Amino acid sequence: MADGHQRALSLAALHPGKVRPHKLAHFVIRTAKFTETRDWYLNVLAGEVSFENEQVCFLSYDEEHHRVGIINMQDATPLEPNGAGVDHVSFTFDTLSELLATYRRLKADGIEPFWPIIHGPTVSLYYRDPTGVKVELQYDILRTPAEVNAFFAAGSYVENFMGIIFDPEEMATRFESGEPIESLTKRPPLPPGLGPWDMHRP
Ligand SMILES: [Fe+2]
Repeated sequence: MADGHQRALSLAALHPGKVRPHKLAHFVIRTAKFTETRDWYLNVLAGEVSFENEQVCFLSYDEEHHRVGIINMQDATPLEPNGAGVDHVSFTFDTLSELLATYRRLKADGIEPFWPIIHGPTVSLYYRDPTGVKVELQYDILRTPAEVNAFFAAGSYVENFMGIIFDPEEMATRFESGEPIESLTKRPPLPPGLGPWDMHRP
């Protein structure tokens, strides 16, 4: 047997270390509110249906064939608010203006975040889909590893690991009035007497 052939057969030799996944591919929700949840994700993500029938819907908004899957399960029990499991999924927008434009677009459809927060590294808007799954739409304030390191080195998370709740409508208006991104996204200090958990909305 040729060496090459032997090597090709030995996966351990081909991949001596732990192999990492290439990417995070998708998540799938099972729901008794199939149509509502399907329509919500198509709207929020400005997505398109890759495939669907009466049982499943796979939807896509980028190069991946599906980022979200919805399974029609009429006997699915409701999500338990404090149940263990995945807490939320998060989608990053390229620019703050894209995030704020999406905020405005969804607001016009009656979809509003239950928790708008400047975490520090991100400006984040948390929504609930019709099934109750939490979905974060975010903008990365810190654009380089050096900026992230500087943020942590400054002790910002020691003081407040949660963030500061903000008014997205006010931020959108300030954006439109020309305020620089740096000042819009600068995280204010905690109000006197309040701790990080006061900034949490479950
Ligand atoms: Fe998150």
